[in-house]
Amino acid sequence: MTTTEMLARKVKVQTPPSHPTLHSSHLKPKTPPTDVISQPNPKLSNGLSIPQIQLGLYMMSGPETTGAVHWALAAGYRGFDSAQWYENEAETGTAILSYPNLTRADIFFTSKLRDNSTSYATVRQSIAQSVATSNLGHIDLFLLHSPYGGREARLTSWRALEDAVLEGQVRMAGVSNYGVKHIEELMTWEDLRVKPVVNQIEMHPFNTQVEIREVCDKHGIKIEAYAPLARAMRFKHPVIKRLAAKYACSPAQLMVRWSIQHGFVTLPKSARQDRLVANADVGGFEISQEDMDEMDGLDEKLVTDW
Ligand SMILES: NC(=O)c1ccc[n+]([C@@H]2O[C@H](COP(=O)([O-])OP(=O)(O)OC[C@H]3O[C@@H](n4cnc5c(N)ncnc54)[C@H](OP(=O)(O)O)[C@@H]3O)[C@@H](O)[C@H]2O)c1
Repeated sequence: MTTTEMLARKVKVQTPPSHPTLHSSHLKPKTPPTDVISQPNPKLSNGLSIPQIQLGLYMMSGPETTGAVHWALAAGYRGFDSAQWYENEAETGTAILSYPNLTRADIFFTSKLRDNSTSYATVRQSIAQSVATSNLGHIDLFLLHSPYGGREARLTSWRALEDAVLEGQVRMAGVSNYGVKHIEELMTWEDLRVKPVVNQIEMHPFNTQVEIREVCDKHGIKIEAYAPLARAMRFKHPVIKRLAAKYACSPAQLMVRWSIQHGFVTLPKSARQDRLVANADVGGFEISQEDMDEMDGLDEKLVTDW
């Protein structure tokens, strides 16, 4: 997707009718005992942990982002998935910094490089700009947003990202939208110094990407599931409707639960308070293996992005 297309899409984003005012009642953490958000975070190959459910911030305008991040923090979210392309790194950082009783270590903030480049200096500068824009001191996870640009741009960008990790601007590094070829290219690169901890790819029951999952597994790379709700495009699918009724949950909760039972880090997006709270409240039921298999069988290689 080009930047122009991204911006065209952004224009369609609507600001919520009432922008949230932060009264103390909004800020009380909601952490019911069965909430998956309150469970221990999974570990990555570098030994560090990552929140398993994070709020996706794609196609959120600045004012929407401020409200959604505050609602999410109140609901117990601690991970936020932004990107240079989303143009909400600043609002995310501001919302986090203005939230009471949080320390920086409580938060896991992700951003992504807009474009790979054959210029090392350009990528270093771009990462430094994201750190400055978010104003959070460092970025927890920084990703190459896509493999576009060719081998030289991918590896030069990775080298710049490695140095950002080694010098402490970024805590860990990963990739996004990488296919098998790109993962193998990076993992077999003789100059590799910092391994990618995640590959963020589209992942839901309608696009299960088994081959790339296996390759990432082999290299100890965690899958981050983007568009875990398939952009709400399959909520009326008969199997989703039937299983949601069976587990007395919403289609969105069923799909988030599918994601975490597979062990993915999952990034459901909503700009609405009721939805983002409910989407993460999925600790109260477990999908049986038989039903997981049925959901796995829904794969139709549905692509909602790129
Ligand atoms: N690396 C990449 O290239 C890439 C690409 C795409 C996405 N991502 C990341 O992954 C995140 C999630 O992906 P996504 O935003 O594309 O799709 P998604 O999370 O699968 O779906 C988001 C859509 O579903 C709606 N929605 C959310 N909860 C709902 C509910 N309970 N009932 C009905 N509708 C609901 C949202 O609308 P409302 O906001 O109005 O609720 C929004 O339109 C992104 O935000 C981004 O952080 C990364």
